[in-house]
Amino acid sequence: MTVDTPECSARIPDAVVLLGKGGYGDWPQQELDRMVDAVRAGGRYRIVEGAFIDQGTPHLPKVLRACVDAGARRIVIAPVFVPVERSLREWLPKIVRRSLKKYHLDDVEVVLADALGDHPALGHAVARVVDDAAQKEEVRANAPPRDRADTWSHIPEHRYHALFCVGPRCATLGSYELWQHLRDRLAERGLNEDSGRVLVVRTGCLFPCNLGPVMVVYPDGAWYGALNRRAVDEIVDEHFVHGRPVEPHLRPRPRQRDQRGQVGAAPNGACLGETGETGDPGEFKPVH
Ligand code: FES
Repeated sequence: MTVDTPECSARIPDAVVLLGKGGYGDWPQQELDRMVDAVRAGGRYRIVEGAFIDQGTPHLPKVLRACVDAGARRIVIAPVFVPVERSLREWLPKIVRRSLKKYHLDDVEVVLADALGDHPALGHAVARVVDDAAQKEEVRANAPPRDRADTWSHIPEHRYHALFCVGPRCATLGSYELWQHLRDRLAERGLNEDSGRVLVVRTGCLFPCNLGPVMVVYPDGAWYGALNRRAVDEIVDEHFVHGRPVEPHLRPRPRQRDQRGQVGAAPNGACLGETGETGDPGEFKPVH
């Protein structure tokens, strides 16, 4: 795949970051790599890199930093997925500002390209894909299935379900690497999904982004925030082995009224505060 670069006198950036959406397995990484290679092959830009906005690495702040370290002073970020939802469009400039501030990059300019889905040229690309489909094998109703997993019909009996956020805000705080770390630790301890102890599920945004990286553990309803490797290790050893939520890493939930109108706490001490925590004033507030 190669990409035609536009003939125009637009100011050429030092670096281009293609921003993709991650997913399961190696395919999202391979697809983004192919896109990066195609743009590099055009030879127009000195630096071309890929980053994932969620569910994959490297994440955007890390790649921005790498571009600057390689000498870039003007960087264009181009989302290369469709569609780009409204909350992400509003949030992207904030995460860029935060990254520039964090790394003291006052002399760096970052420009956000339009969403791919808004570009008129996309229609041509879609038409090419449709035309190329003429060469593809048809899928027929009576064709033999290529795979069938009997386990897909059984509901597993796990002691804990852990919802681990790899949504865009948490991903930029390193949640994808933390999720991998959690999986490794669980496997080392013999607690992973095969053991029936903990089923970890990656999720999109769970809402309290300012508390990220975030994980919620059921059936206890224990919300953990500001996770790092040490916190993950403690949660594995204490919560998943001994059933004791790790209080320093818990985040308070709003008090809930029971059916008699009385104030009650979430199970296992997960509700620790009088009111819900809302994050630092001025921090990102997601639009859902
Ligand atoms: S992205 Fe993780 S809580 Fe919003």
